[in-house]
Amino acid sequence: MSKNSFSKIVYKTLQQSKSIAGFAHKQISSKLMNFILPDSKLESFNIDKNLLIQIQKSMDVLREEDWNDAEKNIYPKKLLFNEPWLRYLTQYPKIWLDMPNTWDRRRKQNFNDLPKSIEKDNYPKYYLRNFHHQTDGYLSDFSASIYDLQVEILFNGSADSMRRRIIKPIKEGLKIYSDRKKSSIKILDVATGSGRTLKQLRAAFPKEKIIGIDLSDSYLKEASRYISDLNGDLIELIKGNAEELPFEDNSLQCISCVYLFHELPRTIRAKVLNEFYRVLEPSGTLVLADSIQISDSPDFTSVMENFYKTFHEPFYCDYIKEDINSKIEEVGFKNVKSNSFFMTKIWSAVK
Ligand SMILES: C[S@@+](CC[C@H](N)C(=O)[O-])C[C@H]1O[C@@H](n2cnc3c(N)ncnc32)[C@H](O)[C@@H]1O
Repeated sequence: MSKNSFSKIVYKTLQQSKSIAGFAHKQISSKLMNFILPDSKLESFNIDKNLLIQIQKSMDVLREEDWNDAEKNIYPKKLLFNEPWLRYLTQYPKIWLDMPNTWDRRRKQNFNDLPKSIEKDNYPKYYLRNFHHQTDGYLSDFSASIYDLQVEILFNGSADSMRRRIIKPIKEGLKIYSDRKKSSIKILDVATGSGRTLKQLRAAFPKEKIIGIDLSDSYLKEASRYISDLNGDLIELIKGNAEELPFEDNSLQCISCVYLFHELPRTIRAKVLNEFYRVLEPSGTLVLADSIQISDSPDFTSVMENFYKTFHEPFYCDYIKEDINSKIEEVGFKNVKSNSFFMTKIWSAVK
């Protein structure tokens, strides 16, 4: 067996193990919740056999795509094996210890349970809530310290494989600047969170200037820690709002934005798209990644419906029905393309 075939088997086994661990965690925690709170209104979601088969097929396609992109050198293969196991080890017990708090918030439909110390005027109203019932919303170091693993569990261990789907369209889009110095190319990752996307981007774009922006101090601090050991130039982290980006008109060559849009009200999504258009230079590339939508993934409608019923995701129901392709075109972008991979849809467009 060649070294390459062996690596592929290791990669797939690793992904499958994470997937089993993710499913197992969800099963056990939901059984425990029903045992401890039998009378509560907290419904659990039962996946039937057909849906499970669809999910597994879709994850296989994602893994194949991930592997093939690495084979084609779209990004280094080492990214596929770059799991922060030690970090997970410290995060996992915290997730269990925090679980009763999230159940309690769910039962009481309490979505405004935020740290008293925050200055509410500094944040938009739609942001001041406990998305997914998570403790402190996006507004504490504790929340930032367990976010990554929560997402990893939610997506059965394929969150980074899905985030990496933005790299190919970014590479395609940046080809137009091949005559420029790489260090003059600016890639902005909006709503960068705890830095997972930044790590994927830095590996694929070692010389380009990469900037991450987010509204949460705590998530930016977590991102700073997470990316501190990366090779290449320093990634810049900025606190700021996607609605009013602190950049000049036409000043960036690429914008990426991962898992933000489903957490914005429709009017704000439109405003943010306009803002992306303003700061990108003509011919610049926009790449969005967010949840799949009903129109392109009807087989997963029940999974999407369960998501907004189970978690506090007040804008998701509207998001999964919106024709985002048209909205991207309406603000002026051309060449809008979209494609779905497991639970994530990727859009690319050119200014
Ligand atoms: C679901 S998380 C996604 C984080 C990250 N992109 C990822 O892939 O995991 C949403 C992030 O968006 C940030 N966010 C929400 N509204 C924002 C806004 N208006 N401007 C900037 N960041 C925002 C939150 O602080 C949070 O870090």
